[in-house]
Amino acid sequence: MPDSAPSVSSSPAGGTGPSRTLDLSLAPTPPMGWNNWNTTNDGPEFDEEMVLATADFFVSSGLKDAGYEYVNLDDCWALPERDEHGDLVPDPVRFPHGIKALADYVHSKGLKFGIYTSAGSHTCSPIGFPGALDHEEQDALLFASYEVDYLKYDNCHNEGRDAVQRYTRMRDALVATGRPIVYSICEWGQNDPWTWAKGVGHLWRTTGDISDNWASLLKLTKQNMVLAEYAGPGHWNDPDMLEVGNGGMTDTEYRTHFGLWAIMAAPLLIGSDLRRVTPETMEILVNTEVIAVDQDPLGVQGAPIRSEGGLHVFVKPLADGSRAVALFNETDEAADISTSAAEVGLPEAASYEVRDLWAHTTEKGGGSLAQNVPAHGTALYRVVAAG
Ligand code: GLA
Repeated sequence: MPDSAPSVSSSPAGGTGPSRTLDLSLAPTPPMGWNNWNTTNDGPEFDEEMVLATADFFVSSGLKDAGYEYVNLDDCWALPERDEHGDLVPDPVRFPHGIKALADYVHSKGLKFGIYTSAGSHTCSPIGFPGALDHEEQDALLFASYEVDYLKYDNCHNEGRDAVQRYTRMRDALVATGRPIVYSICEWGQNDPWTWAKGVGHLWRTTGDISDNWASLLKLTKQNMVLAEYAGPGHWNDPDMLEVGNGGMTDTEYRTHFGLWAIMAAPLLIGSDLRRVTPETMEILVNTEVIAVDQDPLGVQGAPIRSEGGLHVFVKPLADGSRAVALFNETDEAADISTSAAEVGLPEAASYEVRDLWAHTTEKGGGSLAQNVPAHGTALYRVVAAG
């Protein structure tokens, strides 16, 4: 478990120069925001109007007040060729006023702005956009000149070169700009980033790409839920962005998605088109009691304490001494799941307060917690010893 600072260091050229230090305080809790990829992919609706409307909606809808902060661009924001100075060029059709104007607008709303590129010769889109491999310093300076606050750094077209060196070189380039930039490593868990990426990036993908279906959600959950010991303030496991509201799952499944991401202290990056969001989706996304579990300052990733026959009990210790508890039923039939105050690690007490984070109701009980959980559902509680 990487509890100490990583030994990774490098010069900007990836050699043996002075090492640079990532400011872990930039992500004391998992980043929250929005990214276009899960709803647009490389389609034409990814444009200036969408990004500005998203920033507006963050403010008008209560998402900003609920803690969502970053408005992030994914792949396809640039042209396929660099300019004569070797700089990336914003796509003038998608973004007629450029990227700096977008960042300024997002900042004017009291929000933060993020951008994307790949630690390879090209990004992942088959359209063929330039990546930052061997352009790390120039691209980092360009991003800093845009005043970006967040970089997602992908892994396509990496030419088989060493991942630790590639991701560290961009870390160094970002730090050298002097601008505080949250650094999101997106190498899909291929090189076990949880073993080396603390201090390189603030978060790292632990999985391949999410898809908007139950099988994908289940697969990513299982890959991420065994990595709890590697996460903490400033260094988070990232099982990919949210699909909540994209239409491929039921609201029960989306509540499971959101609730499990929260108990696993995952980044909460909305991946739907907020111009078309339904009240049901908003009710999930702005559930401040669930968000508080994700954003708890203790920064522990919750994990299953018991998993049997597709029925799981997840527990996350919280800063105030309470426990978040998720009863997760991955099976196709409703099932009873139960646990107890003692099993989730609470001290012995005469009674316990059990807050249902979906129903927003509180009950007092003697320490046993049992629920009939629907197929693919997740009951989510905050439990504290009374008195
Ligand atoms: C990869 C990443 C995705 C997205 C796309 C963009 O697949 O894992 O999250 O950024 O590239 O092309």
